[in-house]
Amino acid sequence: MLKTSVSDIIPTYDSRADLHKHVADAFEKQFGVPPETVASAPGRVNLLGEHTDYNGGFVLPMTLAMEVAVALGGGTESGAIETFSDIQEQGHRRLIGEAASGHWTDYVLGSLQLAYKGPAEQSGCRVAVGSTLPIGRGISSSAALEVAMIRAATALTGAPMEPAEIAKLARRVENDFVGMPCGIMDQFAAAAGSRGKAVFLDTRTLEFETVPLFDGFDFVVVSSGVKHRLTEGSYAERVGECNRACAALGVEELRDCSMADLDRIGALEEPLDRRARHVVTENQRVLNAARAMKDGDWARFGELMVQSHASQRDDYRVSVPEIDDLVAGAMQEGATGARLTGGGFGGSIVALVRSDITETWCRKMVEQFPASEILAVS
Ligand code: GLA
Repeated sequence: MLKTSVSDIIPTYDSRADLHKHVADAFEKQFGVPPETVASAPGRVNLLGEHTDYNGGFVLPMTLAMEVAVALGGGTESGAIETFSDIQEQGHRRLIGEAASGHWTDYVLGSLQLAYKGPAEQSGCRVAVGSTLPIGRGISSSAALEVAMIRAATALTGAPMEPAEIAKLARRVENDFVGMPCGIMDQFAAAAGSRGKAVFLDTRTLEFETVPLFDGFDFVVVSSGVKHRLTEGSYAERVGECNRACAALGVEELRDCSMADLDRIGALEEPLDRRARHVVTENQRVLNAARAMKDGDWARFGELMVQSHASQRDDYRVSVPEIDDLVAGAMQEGATGARLTGGGFGGSIVALVRSDITETWCRKMVEQFPASEILAVS
């Protein structure tokens, strides 16, 4: 990872231009010729709206300054895809028609199958991957890799796509190729977001608005040090529970329910009642949070973050004790709000912190939680 620090505690990362140059150089060094194109896409942290996206609901992710970049060029053997990453320090060869294998190059292969199949079948291709975005910490390195890959592929085929189309294709890589039944939030934030702004997205219609962040406050992403693997089953189990709740309520998606349905939801069998209650109340919290952000009402936003965490912990049951402790510690040290962010079962928290205390706050957090790491401050 390209990482330089101004402070020993708050990371800053190389610029996009440096990352692009880095990955183009890595390509040339590995394959002996320059790439034909370079593209990248950013990671995201979700500020509010967890597990609402595969229920047709609302989300409020923020685009990070850290990115995954890819360099793409022609190959030497029909159907073969050679991938090199300086993160893994090794090359890997796949065939364009192969199924997913659980290797990280699945994201490269799945994206190329959808966006670059013809050229890859004809002459093969070569890919170098570089990143300033830490992997496997719940800030969407896989979505960034898919979107970067699709951007590079469509630049070469001469058929550039709208951000929403790129996001839909990248989601298909997850759903149909990798087998992760996620919603569209991560891919959409990577494809359509702009740095340092929040994206208020209706995942049903894909209508969205970018919302400026609070003046005088930072969103800080803190990794818990607990690794999560979303394909391990618990995420899919939640998706299944939501589908069962829909069937019992007679609706197509939980988005079709509102706060007025909470009594009906309360009468569902355990745990469907809790799961549906989380989704419905979380959708309402996103609507309220987007309003609060536009009004500059940071106090209200912080309260909604705290409520969102409680709902994820108690109703949706996607938190783990280490994350609950981190959220409690964040609040004790003076955060205005804090919550689990991303798919859960480990990963990271996001906290809203007054800028004048950010540095001390970060220092106290890593002292108190030695396994934690400050991933981003925006
Ligand atoms: C993961 C998925 C997203 C979303 C979140 C939970 O990040 O990739 O689609 O469902 O979990 O909000």
